[in-house]
Formats: sequence, structure tokens, C-alpha cells
Amino acid sequence: MDIATTLPGRGAVVPRARLRTDRPAQSLDGRWRFRVSPSLRGAPDDGWQRSAVAEWGDIEVPGHWNLQGYGLPAYSNVQMPFPVDPPHPPDANPIGDYRVDFDADPGVWDAPRRLLRFDGIESAAEIWLNGVSLGTTRGSRLTHEFDVTDTLVESGNRLAVRVAQFSDATYLENQDMWWLPGIFRSVTVHGEPVGAVRDVFVQADFDPETGAGTVQIDVDATASAHLIIPELDIDVAASGTIHVGSVEPWSAEHPRLYDAQVRTAAESVTLRIGFRRVEVRDAQLMVNGAPIMLRGVNRHEHRARHGRVHDADVVREELLLMKRHHINAVRTSHYPPHPDVLDLFDELGFWVIDECDLETHGFEHVQWRGNPSADPRWREAFVDRMQRTVHRDKNHPSVIMWSLGNESHTGANLEAMARWAKGYDPSRLIHYEGDHASTYVDIYSRMYASHDEVRAIAEEQPAGEDEHRRSLPFILCEFAHAMGTGPGGMQEYWDLFEAHPRLAGGFVWEWIEQGIEVDGPDGSARILYGGDFGEDVHDGNFVIDGLVDVHRRPRPGLLHYAAVIAPVSIEVDADRSAATIGNRYDTLGLAGVALQWSRTVDGEVVAAGDLIAPVCGPRERVMVALPEEARAEGRASQADVLTVEAVTIEDSTWAAAGHLLGSGQQVELAAVDVPPPFEAVVTDAEVGAAEIDPVTGRVQALAGLRISGPDVGVWRAPTDNDRDVGDDEPDLPSYAQRWRAAGMDRTVTRLLGIQPDGGTLVVRSRTGVPILDCALEARMRWTPLSETAVRLDVELTPSGPWPTEWARLGLDLELEGNPQGVDLVGEGPMPSYPDLRSAARFGWWRLDADDLTIDHVRPQESGSRMGVREAVIRARDGAVRIRTLGASFALTVSRHSRRALDGTPHNWELPDEARTFVSIDLAQSGVGTATCGPGVLPQHRLSPRAAAVSLVLERL
Ligand code: GAL
Repeated sequence: MDIATTLPGRGAVVPRARLRTDRPAQSLDGRWRFRVSPSLRGAPDDGWQRSAVAEWGDIEVPGHWNLQGYGLPAYSNVQMPFPVDPPHPPDANPIGDYRVDFDADPGVWDAPRRLLRFDGIESAAEIWLNGVSLGTTRGSRLTHEFDVTDTLVESGNRLAVRVAQFSDATYLENQDMWWLPGIFRSVTVHGEPVGAVRDVFVQADFDPETGAGTVQIDVDATASAHLIIPELDIDVAASGTIHVGSVEPWSAEHPRLYDAQVRTAAESVTLRIGFRRVEVRDAQLMVNGAPIMLRGVNRHEHRARHGRVHDADVVREELLLMKRHHINAVRTSHYPPHPDVLDLFDELGFWVIDECDLETHGFEHVQWRGNPSADPRWREAFVDRMQRTVHRDKNHPSVIMWSLGNESHTGANLEAMARWAKGYDPSRLIHYEGDHASTYVDIYSRMYASHDEVRAIAEEQPAGEDEHRRSLPFILCEFAHAMGTGPGGMQEYWDLFEAHPRLAGGFVWEWIEQGIEVDGPDGSARILYGGDFGEDVHDGNFVIDGLVDVHRRPRPGLLHYAAVIAPVSIEVDADRSAATIGNRYDTLGLAGVALQWSRTVDGEVVAAGDLIAPVCGPRERVMVALPEEARAEGRASQADVLTVEAVTIEDSTWAAAGHLLGSGQQVELAAVDVPPPFEAVVTDAEVGAAEIDPVTGRVQALAGLRISGPDVGVWRAPTDNDRDVGDDEPDLPSYAQRWRAAGMDRTVTRLLGIQPDGGTLVVRSRTGVPILDCALEARMRWTPLSETAVRLDVELTPSGPWPTEWARLGLDLELEGNPQGVDLVGEGPMPSYPDLRSAARFGWWRLDADDLTIDHVRPQESGSRMGVREAVIRARDGAVRIRTLGASFALTVSRHSRRALDGTPHNWELPDEARTFVSIDLAQSGVGTATCGPGVLPQHRLSPRAAAVSLVLERL
């Protein structure tokens, strides 16, 4: 087996479209025999392709062997896991031998030509049937078919596959994901009849001027073939250009498909045709004559225990989840997905960038020396990959762009791929982010460009040397790195996308967290990341960076993204006389949308109704008058909130009727009722209901409930984004490092004074950091209010030069036992930060213990709720109500201390501290997206500042 070539696989038949056909097919998926050897040289050459394999183990096909007990998975991103020595893999290279015996199904056996198909083998394979070598595969996520007409026997077939985990192909497949070898997609034998339909290429165009559809069809058939589209009364010879008359176009918003067949006397192929025209005009991305906005995500194929093995039910649910969160575009990062996923994209409606299985990123660490993209010896391999991608998926209307691959720098081989694809399929655009000059692509694409740079690109004029690039629409094929708490700044990107016609949207990196789930010693499941399997080279938790967790449960980032890209925007006038409704669909009107309003006073809905839905075309805005009963009356004690929502009227494939498409609010906060003073004992140890420690000046109990604090703090347990260096400040250490260098995580407090003062107690303290002289002075005035309540007025004043910005400015309290939940009057229900807030709505929210913080695989700060007026914190021994008498605050209630979050690598290692940690933040920094892209935008940073708050603390 030669696994150090620069060539494509050999022996396979020419690539062709994946077709749904009635030809006989036999799945070979199931239990196979298996063994693994540590190296190719060490792999036995014992006639294993034919001989008995009694002592071998078993394996599930499709599957990855290192997720089935044969070896361990490994994760690395850019770094190659072995020396960069192309085209050679290392000697230490697991080699998997697969064997399966089968009898041919009668249908297959009776067919005059028989083919054996592999949909995915990572990374290189050699294939034998009945002792005859059929050839080799390259392109792990690509289909290979072998002609087995002469090798298949009726019964007792012996299929043998030797798979190398690493090979020359590894240099072309260095995507940021787990190394997961094996036959991980299906294996099928099928029989080809005389008069077969071997290949079909349908290009279905829609003319936006006339509404007419045209089918350009190329068929490779061994008999004459017909194209039949019953709905359009078409039954014609399947060749050339066919005018089909007036049609409804396909779009992601209205994925109209026409069932069709390509038929010979012997074989019938079923297609679902979508008519659409993709073009670039005036530097805009247009489909069917109108601009479109890509509200996208990057999608890897991943399951917690099965890696990249497809599961039809999981994927359907996953795509429905995307639809429900208004995602309308997918980049298949960084390889073609399982072929059936494309059918779902067509059916459910997604704009798709179908990406070739190519990434040579490992060469970046050697300054791109020897990069295969620029080495002619690899040309054929590159073009072969592109051809396999395009041929397999060419009949899917959802695919509007072919992407050459990811992060492979530049070179003539990429150009050759683009040339071939453009020549073969002029109906789609070519995408490749690495072509920064955009010489051989049709769309200008970048990843993680800052907001400022995106604005500058939006304003470029198509002139000058790089006129071609400047005349192209622009997308961010990756932005908003959804790792940990974040990503911040999505709204600001979207505001730009909407303001500039050249900007056609972007794709959040990435959809799913790619953790691997294993059973811990106690049998409970745990999620692991890079390094947890003992890898020498790894990239830690950089693989845990999704809008959904590994079980596809939404993270807050997805909820906020859904609001950022919501199809309907709603802004309510300050006087509630009217609302402005924005239709952000590219092609649909608002006929399917109902508008509802409701007015909530102090948590009770006091009035509600429907609004007459306006006529409003795509990308238009209209004003809608609001009824008299929607107005605020000034009788609230907490808040009077008007919420206007747009919801779907009918059930759709992706959501039941009533699904939220957008919302807007007008919040009238009530004038705060300041409680009268209350006669009570005030000493340095007691302020009415509050028991004070006269030594520290901290509270110890409130009406008998143990509670301690408040402690002044400016630090948070660093998020993933805090730990990384943002592109906007490449020369500075990460925020986390800056905070640590400033000692913000180790503050030290000195009591300055504790003094009864006219029925109140004034406690003054200075909270400093070790080593430096900067500090925060706190003046806290405690006032008794009742048998169970006290008032706390806090003024915080920074002193000295703080060497860095803060994470937050707040007060910490602790209660005994784990938190039981929180009832909140403020923004929710999901967590929010200044730059990650779009979905949060003012309301009366009940949060259970598990809703309080986010169970990130790598622990970090999470769970803040902004705009809080009042909260009841339910702890083990009792509840405390905290309400503001002035400015709102942000509340975080956690069962983990910041110290523990900071110092614990995995969620399943967090200690049970049996405490309830409460943070009342007067100000907070945003979270940014520094793991990839810019850090916190200037307007969301927190420079040292004074702040004050007046609170009522009451034991319930
Ligand atoms: C990009 C790359 C992705 C992923 C991401 C970081 O540069 O294209 O594959 O590595 O960075 O998560």
C-alpha cells in the first residue's frame, strides 16, 4: 500500500452525481471484522484479504475505530500531529484492516454491471474484493465507486479494506477537528441495468424577468432517457435545454421543489428540481433577481459518541433547530457532508456553500514551505477532490457556491480547481476565502475581519488594480467565534451587513461544540477535548466552540443570534402610539406573519390583542398603529411593559404555528418607592435585621439567614474569549493575563471605618490588589427598613492608576448551600452581557437552579442577567429579595466560586462548594470574540470608573 504519493486514489470509476434510483442496491453496513496495527510496516502481510480472521475483533461500519475501543481520538487544529514531511505520514500510523463476507443480493447479482461504493473512508484505503485489488481512495469525505462486475461472485464474497489513519491525504485534510479514522460512511453494492442512467446533471434556471423556468440537462445513459416533471406536464427527451414554462422559484425562504424523474426503460432516477438563478450584480449577491442575506453557520458533522458518522434523525432535528433560529445558510465546513444532508438542505431551505474536502493549514507553521496548493505534483489530487465534490452534489438547488476548501493558502492548484468547477458548472459561484486578491473566485470572502474592516470593505469602490475583487459581494465565511461565553459583537456585525448592499451576511463559527463523550469511572458521562486522550500535540478545548453543545442544546449565543437575524424587526415608539415593523426576508412578504401585542404590569398581563398585519414587501418597513389599551398608565410598582411579537400563522415543516419571528418592547420602569426608615437598633454589629461583623464590616446574617458580603470585585472567571488575544490588540496579553497581572483576581480589603450615623451604619473600606497601589474605595450605608429588610447604599470610587480595564464592577454576596433558583424582574430569560444581549427581553422570569449559569465544558464566567430591577434568590436555607432603588444591575447567581471556575479544566471536575455565589454588577465589560476575531468593542469595555447603587435586601 502506497500512502506517500501526491496523487488521487486509483481504480475508481469516474465521479458522478449521487442519484436516487430504483436500481438494486445492497447495503454492506453492519458488523465487520477488524484489527489494527501500529504501523504500515508492522501491518501483517499474511494474506488477510482472503484468509480466516477468527482472532480479529468486531467493528461497526460505518464508524471510527478509535471511538470503538481501538486506539484513542486526538484533536489538533492547525498543527500537524506529526512532522511536516510531505507526502510522508509517520511510521507510527494506525492501520485498520477491515473484512466482511457477504452473498450478493439477487438484484445486484442479476445486473450486468455492478459497482461498489464507499461514501467516506478516513484517510486512505486500499480495497480488495475476493483477493483482487480494486484500487485506492483519497478524499475522506468523498465518494469512490469501483466496478466489481468481474470480481463479485454470487455467494461468499470477501471484501477487505486496509485503511491508513494517516497518509499523503492527511496533508490535504488538516481541518480543525478530531482525527477519526475508518470507514465512517456507508458501503453499498449496486447493480447497473442495461439501459442505465449513469449520471444526470440538471441546471434549473429561473428567469426573474419572465418567471420562466429552464432545465439544462445532461444525462449519461446507456439508453434513451426521458425527463418527466409531472407538475409541469413535461415528458421530453432528457437532453439539452428544456423550456418548462412558468415556475415558482426555489429559495431558502420558500424551498419550492418539483418532483422529477429521469427515466430509461430500465432505470428511473428521482430528482427534486429547484429553479433558481445565482448571480453577482453591482457587487451584490443575487438570487432570482433579488439580493439575499446569508444568515449562516459553519457546520461540521459531529456526534458526541460517534464522531462524523451520519444519523438521519439527528441531522433532520439539527437542521430544524437551525430553521427555528432563523438560520438560512450553511457552509459545509470543511468538506462535503453526508450526501443525504444535501436533500434536507433542498427540502427545508438553506443557502449552501458546499466546501471541498481540502485544507493544508498545517503548512502555516512552516511558513507555507512545500504547501501542496502550489506544488504541481499535487495538482491532480486537488482537481480530483473538486470533481468528486461537484459531481456528487451538483443537482442540489440549495448549493449556490462551490468552495475550494479552507485555509490552504494560495497556489495554482486551487486556481485549477476553480477553473474546472467554473467550466463544468457556470451556474454557481466559486468561493475560497484564502484567495484574498479574489483572482479566481466570484465572491470576496474573509474570516474574522473586524467590524471596522468590514465597514471599510463595504465602502470600497470598484476601481483600481484590484477592481475585480472590489466589484464582488462580500461575506464573512467565518465570524463570531462561538466559544464559551459569547460571542460578543454579533449585533454590531449585523447592523453593518444591513446597512451596506455589498455585504451579504456571514457564517458564525461554528454550529456545534465538538466534544467527545465518554463514561467516567462512576459511569456518568463526561465531555472531553484535546489533550484529554494523552495526545502529544493538541489544541485543548479549541474544539469546543459552538452555538449548540455537543448534544445540540442551544447555548445562549444561538438565542441571541436568532434575535440578531430575526426575520421581523419590531421597534415600539416611546409613547406606544405605533410600532415600526421591518420585514427582513429577502423574498417573502409578511402574509404568513401575525402580530400580537401584550401589556404586562408588574408581571400580570393586563391587556393583549392582535394587530392588523401590514402589507410589507421583502426588505421593507411599515408603521403600525397601536391601540389605546397598549399605553402605559403610570400605576405600576415595578414596570409596565409593552411587548409586540411577530409569529408564524401556520404550521411549517420547521415549526408549529405561533413560532416567534421577532419582537420589540417598550419598557416603562415604575418610579421606585423608597421605603420609610424603621426604628431599630444600630450598632457596629447590628443594623436592624442585618447582623454585621464589626471586625470586617461585612454582613453575616439577615433576619437569621446566613449571608456574607458584600465584597467589592472587578474580576470575572475568565471566559474562553478573555483568555485569548483579540485581533484588535495583537501585541497585548489577553484580558485574563492583564487582569491577573493587575492582581484583580486576588483583591485585598482593609476596613477604613465602621461608624453608626443617625440611625444608619456607615462602613468604609478599601479594596486593593497585591503589588500595586490602585484600589476601590467603598462607602456602604446600612439602614434598617423592617424586621426582615435593610437598605444598602453603596458608592464605589476607584483610586490610583489601574493598569487595565475591568471585567465588571460589582458586589459579591454568599449564601449557604447550593442555589435553588431565582425569580427575576429584568432582562432574560437567557444570560446577557453588554455585547450579547439581543434576545433578552424585560420580564418576570423564573429561573431554576440549572438555568442560572451555563455548564460550559471548560468552566468560566457565565449566567449574567442584565437590566435587573429585582430578584428573589432562592438558596438552601431561605430566600433573599434584592431590589434596586435606582439604576438596574446585572445579576449572576452561581453554585461555583470564580476561583473554582477559573482553576478547573472540565465541568465534571468542579467541586461542590455548597454555596450560593451572588454578584450584583453595577457595570460589566462585554465578552467579545477574541478566541478568533476582535476582542471587546470599545463601546462595551469597562474602564475604571465610579459607580453607586441603592439596594433593598430582604429576607423572605
Ligand atoms: C478558522 C478555521 C476553522 C476553525 C476556526 C477556529 O481559521 O477555518 O476551521 O479552526 O478558525 O475555531
